[in-house]
Amino acid sequence: MKRVSDRFFQLAVLGALVGMGLGVMMGKNEDFTLAPVHAHINLLIWVSMFLYALFYRAVPKATAGVLPVIHFGLNVLSILVLLPALAMMLLGDKSVAPIVGVASIGVWTSMLLFAFIVIKSTWKAEGADAAETRKAA
Ligand code: HEM
Repeated sequence: MKRVSDRFFQLAVLGALVGMGLGVMMGKNEDFTLAPVHAHINLLIWVSMFLYALFYRAVPKATAGVLPVIHFGLNVLSILVLLPALAMMLLGDKSVAPIVGVASIGVWTSMLLFAFIVIKSTWKAEGADAAETRKAA
């Protein structure tokens, strides 16, 4: 996926709308039961995805290969499972706890993958940057 950064940017702003919207609703209704869901939408989608997007935009070679696609897919899928399950759990359905657990591991694994991508693509940054400059000249 060449424009993995664009997809992350788009999901990030949608997440901001949903997360902040939930914050507004919580305030209006004076019911803060779902405050952890609000916090996780804002932090996992709005903040984290925006940061992933900025990184992929700043370091284009990090988008090469299949790993960024797996990072994107696993991250989005895990979050889409985690947040509704977390909401159900907070609303009293304890049976979804194992789903929350598995999805949390999915989110963490996607972060592990991102950490690998960041370290791999920045390890030899100087040499690679110089080569890119020579190519462009
Ligand atoms: C329109 C914007 C926002 C509104 C109206 C809003 C509203 C709220 C409300 C009403 C609470 C519950 C407070 C309480 O429990 O007494 C809350 C908690 C919280 N919010 Fe927001 N918020 C907004 C944006 C954000 C953003 C952008 C972030 C993070 C990037 C964020 C992170 C948090 C966190 C970490 C908590 C604590 C959650 C917890 O106690 O479990 N909020 N917010």
